[in-house]
Amino acid sequence: MKKCLFSVWALIVTGTQLFAQSPTVLTVKADKPTATIQPTMWGIFFEDINLGADGGIYAELVKNRSFEFNAPMMGWKEQKEGEAFGSTLVENRLEKGATNPRYIHVTANSDKGKYGLINEGFRGMGIKQGETYDFSVWTRKTDASSLTLHIELINTKGEVIGKADLTPTDKDWKKQSVSLTATATEPKAKLAVWFVGTGNLDLDMISLFPKNTWKQRPNGLRADLVQLLADMKPGFLRFPGGCIVEGRELSTRYQWKKTVGEVQSREMVINRWNTEFKHRPTPDYFQTFGLGFYEYFLLAEDIGAEPLPILNCGMACQFNSAEVVPMSEIDPFIQDALDLIEFANGSTDTKWGKLRADMGHPKPFNLKLLGVGNEQWGPQYLERLPLFTKAIKEKYPTIKLVNSSGTDPNGERFDYLNKNLRSMNVDIIDEHYYRAPDWFLQNAHRYDNYDRNGPKIFAGEYAAQSVATVSPDNKNNWKCALAEAAFMTGLERNADVVHMASYAPLFAHAEGWQWTPDLIWFDNLRSYGTPNYYVQKLYSVHKGTQVVPLVQKNEAVAGQNDLYASSVLDKNTQELVVKIVNTSDKSQTTNVVIESAKKVGKTGKLWILKSENLESVNSFEDPTLVSPAEQSVTLKGKQISLTLAPNSFSVVRVKLS
Ligand code: AHR
Repeated sequence: MKKCLFSVWALIVTGTQLFAQSPTVLTVKADKPTATIQPTMWGIFFEDINLGADGGIYAELVKNRSFEFNAPMMGWKEQKEGEAFGSTLVENRLEKGATNPRYIHVTANSDKGKYGLINEGFRGMGIKQGETYDFSVWTRKTDASSLTLHIELINTKGEVIGKADLTPTDKDWKKQSVSLTATATEPKAKLAVWFVGTGNLDLDMISLFPKNTWKQRPNGLRADLVQLLADMKPGFLRFPGGCIVEGRELSTRYQWKKTVGEVQSREMVINRWNTEFKHRPTPDYFQTFGLGFYEYFLLAEDIGAEPLPILNCGMACQFNSAEVVPMSEIDPFIQDALDLIEFANGSTDTKWGKLRADMGHPKPFNLKLLGVGNEQWGPQYLERLPLFTKAIKEKYPTIKLVNSSGTDPNGERFDYLNKNLRSMNVDIIDEHYYRAPDWFLQNAHRYDNYDRNGPKIFAGEYAAQSVATVSPDNKNNWKCALAEAAFMTGLERNADVVHMASYAPLFAHAEGWQWTPDLIWFDNLRSYGTPNYYVQKLYSVHKGTQVVPLVQKNEAVAGQNDLYASSVLDKNTQELVVKIVNTSDKSQTTNVVIESAKKVGKTGKLWILKSENLESVNSFEDPTLVSPAEQSVTLKGKQISLTLAPNSFSVVRVKLS
């Protein structure tokens, strides 16, 4: 009987072993680099969409500070208490070429009460206890009266959580400032400007900034949001978009020259996303350009990214008005491009180089890349582009130009431009793909057969769409992020062709967005990276310097057994980095065999990004639900054995010496 039981047990054990999955063997040819990875490989796409700039990274808390919105008092409310008298009149200088023509004329008598103006901020103002806020205003005394300003921060209960006083002093326009410290934290505060005394006063550019901006810069950026960008160690910063470059019509296109110089002289325009989607109207969305081209260059420099400005090429958005500037009037657009290069790189005795120096940056920004047009298509683009290319290359032959391949990664428009741009032997082609997660999985091979000697590729805008492009129901869920991670192994493997890539869009205000999915979500006080953010960050932080082949049975790993993988060397740290994505719902065992003449470390580091639920998203309540967990791995000789969790993205780093 005993013998019989033993045999049954032996049978079960043997059977289990028979059915146990044998590990997938992946071989890394660490001695056979195939391509150099550009320092620009993984970068950032910035556009003022979803309150990305005004109401977002640009830390100004006052909405419509200069009364230039179409409705001049949008964001402002008069407030009267007791028997105070007060009135506010919008006046317009109507000077020729005035860039900030409107201001307000206030008449008040607060002897028997209070009269003031309340600003609601961008969906409220995020105020933090103990932090200092800098209030500033341009005023002009119009008579001998002595109106003074009493400034208050007010919480949602109507309580004062910060205050200060300011006495206007001049008969001519003058900027004055005062600081206040908040006594409480409030995500939805308002700013009150009370007029104390009796008399008249002109006011403009009423502004409130946290002192604690990124690098404590006045007119600065929100520190938490820039930190999230800096943490990605991005290779480039593309700005200012996106469709915003084009404008819905030419009159609202992005004009960089109107975004530099004194902040009070920058001419505001309506934001194209204000009216784009009927299902997400944003009537208070304008571009004040407080975050203008100088600030973008500075941001790029701060976070160690190559600046990549994209300029309008005489074409408005082809989804909207599709206006084009006649060929006979294209010259000023080309001149804008030449002047921008001078602004970024020119010596301080050039016109535009001097402006850069006057703004605080005598050293050049060392611009190397420039985009001509955003999502343009058709013969109109091919008619205009060569004129830009010729003029820019003649004067600045080392500048690399980024050119549009349209809106989609395939189809008639793409084929037409792709063919023509290749025959023109352009520098870099910008490809965009907003597609379903499956598309990303199926396209992990996309660049394997691209011409190695042709133009380089910039995957300039991409994001997996959980429902459909521009659907307001799209989610930044793990399924999408995982598909992007899998696809990105193909970008990395083909780094000889793909020189740059960026997820889009970048930012979204939880209460002010128009487009989803987005890489980083924020409200007035908080921010978090999505699972997609962590995918981007893992790639960028572990970018490496050279691609080395990672194969299964001599083939690139791009979907076999639902695995996607790539591998790079980091010659700065003498390390090998292996990235493996398991898109199956089963755990898989793999043995990564490192073929290398060098010694391999005994241990390595492993970062795992995973979730059991493909629908998982990060949120303000659980901002790091899907975020990398770090652990160490022990190698057996030159072999890394990994049990890849279902639906997971793993990054391993080991020393080679
Ligand atoms: O990223 C959102 C928009 O998508 C961009 O502005 C545009 O280039 C693309 O169509």
